Amino acid sequence: MSVNKEVKRITVHTLQEMKNRGDKIAMLTAYDYSMALIVDNAGTDIILVGDSASNVMAGHETTLPITLDQMIYHAASVVRAAKRSLVVVDLPFGSYQGNSKEALASAIRIMKEAGAHAVKLEGGVEIAESISRILTAGIPVMGHLGLTPQSIYKFGTYTVRAREDAEAAKLKEDALKLQELGCFGIVLEKIPSKLAKEVSESLNIPTVGIGAGQHCSGQVLVIHDMLGLNKGFKPRFLRQYANLYDVMDGAIKNYVSDVRANNFPNEKEEY
Ligand code: KIV
Repeated sequence: MSVNKEVKRITVHTLQEMKNRGDKIAMLTAYDYSMALIVDNAGTDIILVGDSASNVMAGHETTLPITLDQMIYHAASVVRAAKRSLVVVDLPFGSYQGNSKEALASAIRIMKEAGAHAVKLEGGVEIAESISRILTAGIPVMGHLGLTPQSIYKFGTYTVRAREDAEAAKLKEDALKLQELGCFGIVLEKIPSKLAKEVSESLNIPTVGIGAGQHCSGQVLVIHDMLGLNKGFKPRFLRQYANLYDVMDGAIKNYVSDVRANNFPNEKEEY
């Protein structure tokens, strides 16, 4: 009997089935081939090529500077590695806010040039036309509400959003609108757990939370944060699953010291 070893790809339909069954969705970011291989192999459902690449890969203070070309480069590297995970790619700041035609053109470039499976956009009703146009082209769209880092200069801080009634009400409306438009899921970033629960229960589509408590349909973290590569970043919502900064620091210090002491390479390591 032949064994079918082909890996079954997670699709937006798989995610909807997971939400219907109450199975939690695990999502992580990745921005390069080697990291994406590990993230995919470990069983992550969604790999997000987030515009957080602007911070963790390029060292920018915000997500605003990263370009569409740079996102496509990161996304193409991740797609080459991902055999099972659904690869969702952020439309970067400036590539979709102008008008819906530009939004569609940006989304098409991501799908065509990177081979991505879906795109993510930050915002609610104000970007409804762009979302509709992208969806009409057959491109799955994930929404992103709450703390939307591309609007950091409007917010002024990275603190919890929608604590006030008016902002919470707007977020609930936006979530319903995104569902109505046809988004396959919504990221809820840094909002009170109670609000995330209400929103998640009011929707048929899955929600994926980051700093939004345990009632979302799934969770997402930035891979550098959860692996402890970002030494200084320790918000309350972050669970650090490893301390790779110290592991790498130790390994590199050992290497430098071996080279300096002429301990590397030894006879077994030469030709
Ligand atoms: O860019 C990103 O990494 C994100 C997550 C924080 C959801 O949008």
